[in-house]
Amino acid sequence: MEPGQVAIIGSGLIGRSWAMVFAAGGFKVKLYDVAQQQLTSALEIIRKQMKDLEESGFLKGSLSVEQQLALISVCTDLKAAVEGATFIQECTPENLELKKKIFSQLDLIVGDSAILSSSTSCLLPSKLFTGLKHVKQCIVSHPVNPPYYVPLVEIVPHPETDPSTTERTYALMKKIGQSPVRLNREIEGFALNRLQYAVISEAWRLVSEGVISPADLDLVMSDGLGMRYAFIGPLETMHLNAEGISNYCERYCEGMRLVLNTFGPVPEFSGEAEQKISQAMSEKIPVIPKVLDARRKWRDECLAGLSKLKKQMKSD
Ligand code: NAI
Repeated sequence: MEPGQVAIIGSGLIGRSWAMVFAAGGFKVKLYDVAQQQLTSALEIIRKQMKDLEESGFLKGSLSVEQQLALISVCTDLKAAVEGATFIQECTPENLELKKKIFSQLDLIVGDSAILSSSTSCLLPSKLFTGLKHVKQCIVSHPVNPPYYVPLVEIVPHPETDPSTTERTYALMKKIGQSPVRLNREIEGFALNRLQYAVISEAWRLVSEGVISPADLDLVMSDGLGMRYAFIGPLETMHLNAEGISNYCERYCEGMRLVLNTFGPVPEFSGEAEQKISQAMSEKIPVIPKVLDARRKWRDECLAGLSKLKKQMKSD
């Protein structure tokens, strides 16, 4: 039986990645965008990326590049794009009014079973979907950049989302090899960005207060915490760093609270601190498109290698 058909709305960075992930899973993908030129260039980029992945041995799925490409078609007509799709993933720019407009258009043309899903990084489902006729079929599926290598997808329901929509989305993400997590209710930043912003905020404070240099701060994560966080999360870390969670709390809660009480207010992310951090980072990685792209390519190669290692080391 064929896996099915999906529609991707918006063919930018994230839309292209979703298209590749679904095609690798054997799904027919219709990629929709406002301009034909954008779609033509999206297809070229996808072809090049798939070829590069094949060469480096990181192409996902059991189909060849040509078979995967043959599953992807493009279209500038929204109705035609979503026709026959069981899952619609919206990937347009992070703009509430634009997204609301697109979901209200989709609301008029979908039937009662297709799932309407948004890639939004920070817009709450209640802002995006309230008032839609098909709100029960609406959900946020927030990927992590680059979704091809970083499998996490945060699934965030609207208060009126039907539990079956959440279940189907979760199962679909599993089927295409992503790693879904469910949030039981919406919250600003979902889970990933709340954790990320907590880390960024403390990193910013430590550097702006002159406690540590920007380069050393990044090492604390890349050669320290990050090494184990690629395999186990903060809660399992606690569990393993003592004789279980309760023992960890017993041993360390006083110390943790002492440190946490020294955390300052939310940084402004501007002024002298911004200049200092920006200068240090730009010396290491100049803000020149070619240089940034080369570094991103290197990062993606590291992530591809890491995802291979994670598969080898898989435990239940
Ligand atoms: P992008 O700017 O690369 O792509 C947006 C695409 O939407 C463009 O191809 C544009 O032509 C198209 N578009 C604009 N108006 C449209 C319309 N009315 N109908 C259809 N297509 C339209 O943006 P990117 O980075 O791909 O982000 C898309 C979404 O994914 C955003 O909501 C963003 O927050 C989310 N996201 C982005 C991540 C990232 O790191 N870039 C990570 C996770 C989620």
